Amino acid sequence: MTEAVDTVHVDLGARAYDVRIGRGLLGRAGAEISPLLKRKRVTVVTDETVGALHLSALREGLGDIAMTSLALPAGEGTKGWPEFSRTVEWLLAEKVERRDVVVALGGGVIGDLVGFAAAVLRRGVRFVQVPTSLLAQVDSSVGGKTGINSVHGKNLVGAFHQPSLVLADIDVLGTLPKRDFLAGYGEVVKYGLLGHAAFFEWLEKHGSALAGGDLAARQQAVQHSVMMKARIVERDETEEGERALLNLGHTFCHALESATGYSSRLLHGEGVAIGCALAFEVSQRLGLCSQEAPSRVRAHLKAMGMKCDLSDIPGDLPDADALIGLMGQDKKVVDGRLRFILARSIGEAFVADNVDTGVVRAVLTESLMNRR
Ligand SMILES: NC(=O)c1ccc[n+]([C@@H]2O[C@H](COP(=O)([O-])OP(=O)(O)OC[C@H]3O[C@@H](n4cnc5c(N)ncnc54)[C@H](O)[C@@H]3O)[C@@H](O)[C@H]2O)c1
Repeated sequence: MTEAVDTVHVDLGARAYDVRIGRGLLGRAGAEISPLLKRKRVTVVTDETVGALHLSALREGLGDIAMTSLALPAGEGTKGWPEFSRTVEWLLAEKVERRDVVVALGGGVIGDLVGFAAAVLRRGVRFVQVPTSLLAQVDSSVGGKTGINSVHGKNLVGAFHQPSLVLADIDVLGTLPKRDFLAGYGEVVKYGLLGHAAFFEWLEKHGSALAGGDLAARQQAVQHSVMMKARIVERDETEEGERALLNLGHTFCHALESATGYSSRLLHGEGVAIGCALAFEVSQRLGLCSQEAPSRVRAHLKAMGMKCDLSDIPGDLPDADALIGLMGQDKKVVDGRLRFILARSIGEAFVADNVDTGVVRAVLTESLMNRR
């Protein structure tokens, strides 16, 4: 039986591409990717966990297309110079040429790193994203932001490089550990919070079915999230304005990820969820949104069994001033002023450049005090 596949077209002129979303896409990867190929050959980069679970299905799905693969260690620690340079050198050793296509099979870590490798290899080769985590399917595989982390902070080295195709196979989410699934759900909730109240309401109703494995609900949530991201990216590809809304929760998240050493103490999507809750808290303190809004955000995150407070992060955290200092390293700093994405209500976020840091300090301090 052929399952219905949704297609979201990302209309970026010469850099336009399709995001295909549905079941069984790995099994027909050959038919999907073939039109892009000048010769029947691809190089695939994955991580060891995803590779062990899904590389053979991709291999089979590619049919008569020749494939070589490299598996990097799983986890955020891979998204740095050593594994990046290993990947670039491997692709060169595999004699990847400018007309070839590189495939990224994995979560956001693999997608970001491989996309950046494709951006710089021979001054740019095409690449296909095959996102396998919920986070990668709804967010990182679409929009062309690629890059790696530096000791100075997250995602500080990178390039805009759009993929030529994205294949989001809903079936592969079945092997994702619950914690990673829920971390990805943090980015799904983000879309409702930043721009679509009705979608947030839909998630309040269907979130538990999604987490429980309802494939139709999963496909619908991925399709809707990708569509929202695609429309924003089309209007503002390089983040001169509106695209910054996608960073709701991220200024907090990046500081917390840095404070926890990009370790398993806090996954990126968990940081986004906590960051969204804090952004709504700050918005409410500034009188921008109702008191009910932050409570509703937290209630949904809690109902889903997600982290929503600093106190949910295991181990010690630095104090509020140190966390604000870490935010200063974030590349969303403009002229030394901290930029936040705040909200007037659920579904109505905006970019705020003149945020009173005192309010942010108070919200963080309170949240840290709740720990004791
Ligand atoms: N480029 C962008 O626009 C963008 C947007 C959001 C996040 N990101 C980046 O994405 C990264 C986080 O992505 P992530 O959460 O996917 O992290 P990840 O790539 O580390 O994947 C999370 C874990 O899940 C495992 N995994 C992935 N798919 C699986 C599957 N189907 N079955 C079993 N295990 C599976 C991975 O091996 C890994 O251990 C961060 O580095 C973040 O900065 C980028």
